[in-house]
Formats: sequence, structure tokens, C-alpha cells
Amino acid sequence: GSKNIQAKLVLLGDMGTGKTSLVLRFVKGQFSEYQESTIGAAFFTQVLSLNEATIKFDIWDTAGQERYHSLAPMYYRGAAAAIVVYDITSMDSFLRAKKWVQELQRQGNSSVIMFLVGNKADLAEKREVGNEEGEQYAKENGLSFLETSAKTAQNVNELFYEIAKRLEKA
Ligand code: GTP
Repeated sequence: GSKNIQAKLVLLGDMGTGKTSLVLRFVKGQFSEYQESTIGAAFFTQVLSLNEATIKFDIWDTAGQERYHSLAPMYYRGAAAAIVVYDITSMDSFLRAKKWVQELQRQGNSSVIMFLVGNKADLAEKREVGNEEGEQYAKENGLSFLETSAKTAQNVNELFYEIAKRLEKA
């Protein structure tokens, strides 16, 4: 491909929803049951090659703990793409995700490519948030939606690939 695109991507969502795990699955192909909670934020890069372009992601993995909330604007400001993550086994995390979507819609970059992601799809027996519930909310708010599992890798590459394709077109 001829186009080189560098894009800032941010992950937001409640603590423990699997933001770091999704990034590590995508960047390193790894998963840990004992992933430590992020302090402040963590930075990763990854390159995805498409037919017409090479996308270099600058990924900001933010900390979900409430005490870090005030730092978030530094990371979502100027972001080309945002992934808002909840845990399908936690209704609280879904409510928190809705708050993030509202905050991004009010204060984020208006052309941001936004994904709502229900992670831990492998834990179906503990599910508290229905697939349709996530999908419906996303649809009503003009977001894209996927359920993922950082553990099994379900839809993880698809998520970043979808974002890359949108950035290529943008
Ligand atoms: P903070 O940094 O505190 O905001 O958390 P986080 O959103 O980055 O979550 P993290 O990636 O640290 O994952 C939290 C816990 O959930 C860890 O024990 C992970 O192993 C586990 N986890 C993450 N993704 C999945 C998943 O898809 N399935 C299962 N079963 N566990 C997961």
C-alpha cells in the first residue's frame, strides 16, 4: 500500500473490563489471567497493513479506576478512534460504558471512530448484559459494536482491523 496513516487510539472503560488484555492480545498475541490493573495509562504501538494503506496505531490504554478519571481527556483528546469497553458479566460496567460514550460525545473529537465492545464473551454462563442490549445501545448512539474475548481471541483482530479499514477510508 502507498498510504501511511498514524492514528491515535484510546481505550476507555471500567476497571477490570479487559482493556489491557485486549491490547496485549492484539499487540503480542498473549493473554494473562493475572493481568495487573493499569496505573495512569499505558502506551503501545502496532502496525496493521491493509491493501491500500499501512496503519500505525498509537494506543493509549487508560486506567479504569475512578481515581484516574480526570486524566482521561488527555488521552481521548485528538484520538482518531476510541474503544469503550465493558464486561458482559457486569451490568455496572455497561452503565459505566454508557457514561464514557456520553463524555466522548460531549467532549471528544467529533469525527472520532467509536466502538462499543462487550468483552469477556467467553464467560457466557455469568452474562449480565445481553448481546442485543449492547447492540441496541450502540445503534441508538451511532457506534459500532462487537463482543470480544481477550482470552479466546474472539473478534479481537476483527475489532482493530475494522477500525483500520475505517481510518483508511476517512
Ligand atoms: P484496569 O487497568 O484496572 O482499568 O483494567 P483493564 O480494563 O485493563 O482489565 P485487565 O486487562 O487488567 O483485565 C482484568 C481481569 O480480567 C484480568 O484478570 C484478566 O485476565 C481478565 N480478563 C480480561 N479479558 C478477559 C476475557 O476476555 N475473558 C476472561 N475470562 N477474562 C478476561
